[in-house]
Amino acid sequence: MNIVKKLVPEPERKDLPPTSELGFGTYFTDHCFLMDYRGGTGWYNARIVPYAKFSLDPAAVCLHYGQAIFEGLKAYRGEDDKIRLFRPMENMKRLNRSALRMCMPQVNEEEVLDAIRTLVRVENAWVPAARGTSLYIRPFIIATEAFLGVRPAKEYLLSVILSPVGAYYAEGFNPVKIFVTDRYVRACAGGVGEAKTAGNYAASLMASEEAKKQGFTQVLWLDAVERRYVEEVGTMNIFFLFDDVLVTPALNGSILPGITRDSVLRLARDWGIEVEERPVSIDEVLERAKSGGLTECFGTGTAAVVSPVGALHYRGESFTINGGKTGSLAQRLFDRISGLQYGEEEDDYGWTEVV
Ligand code: COI
Repeated sequence: MNIVKKLVPEPERKDLPPTSELGFGTYFTDHCFLMDYRGGTGWYNARIVPYAKFSLDPAAVCLHYGQAIFEGLKAYRGEDDKIRLFRPMENMKRLNRSALRMCMPQVNEEEVLDAIRTLVRVENAWVPAARGTSLYIRPFIIATEAFLGVRPAKEYLLSVILSPVGAYYAEGFNPVKIFVTDRYVRACAGGVGEAKTAGNYAASLMASEEAKKQGFTQVLWLDAVERRYVEEVGTMNIFFLFDDVLVTPALNGSILPGITRDSVLRLARDWGIEVEERPVSIDEVLERAKSGGLTECFGTGTAAVVSPVGALHYRGESFTINGGKTGSLAQRLFDRISGLQYGEEEDDYGWTEVV
């Protein structure tokens, strides 16, 4: 793919934000990648241009009917000053699966990944160096055709933007408190829960706002039919350590197939830990919490990495897990995955690539 580059002259580039102020997703780099799609033509006009607002027709399909998908991955700067991506092809594959579900055109996975590599190289200076920080990469596709009838659009825009980030949660790697909702649902079987599509996140807002008002960091979703089986947190997949067995809800069509989730399963199995992917009811989780059999709970995601859960709150009752402290398995997984991402540990899996 030929990528046309129109770069911001060096003296006009933005100042880099101080590492201590990074937070998540508030700063954006000097450039972005854009590429257009038209039915009959395919993807065309691949370009790296100055980061700027773009104009959309007020009738653009994404604004009305939510034909919009995205991905999230990170570039990490190691102590060796090399920049690494973690399993980026998995994000490309998931982008195409989301596109399929939302009736959007497929992309050439190698070409989009190559565009990401090129953009990251252009923005090299924006990859922060401090441990725990990274350059968050947000590829997304929106339907841009101006048309108010309900059918898949014939025109799209693919973009990649970059944002230097610190920890996703204000708590950092410290345990978060999670509210289990049986009032709202995120996704149902046959719906779009496993696609990384904008509407899933809009659907989650009301419950998260209510939970935040009560002092919780996130919401744990239950299945839409029985409101009994644990699904995911929305920004993370969820894991439980029941005594010595690591359990996570099986991918059932309404749960996002997380890449960190998959990496955790692989590592745990390789470490000889018994792993189960199966339906997990909230009753089982809470019974085990009461009897002392819920050893640990943690979430996994690109933005959140491995995030320990210190307490679950369900129907007026709070359950503290592992004394509200980070468990040793969550710590071990976090250390191993971060070690690979920052190039500090031998990558026996071939998960990382230097950009
Ligand atoms: C990610 O972990 O990259 C996500 O997509 C979660 C996010 C919506 C912040």
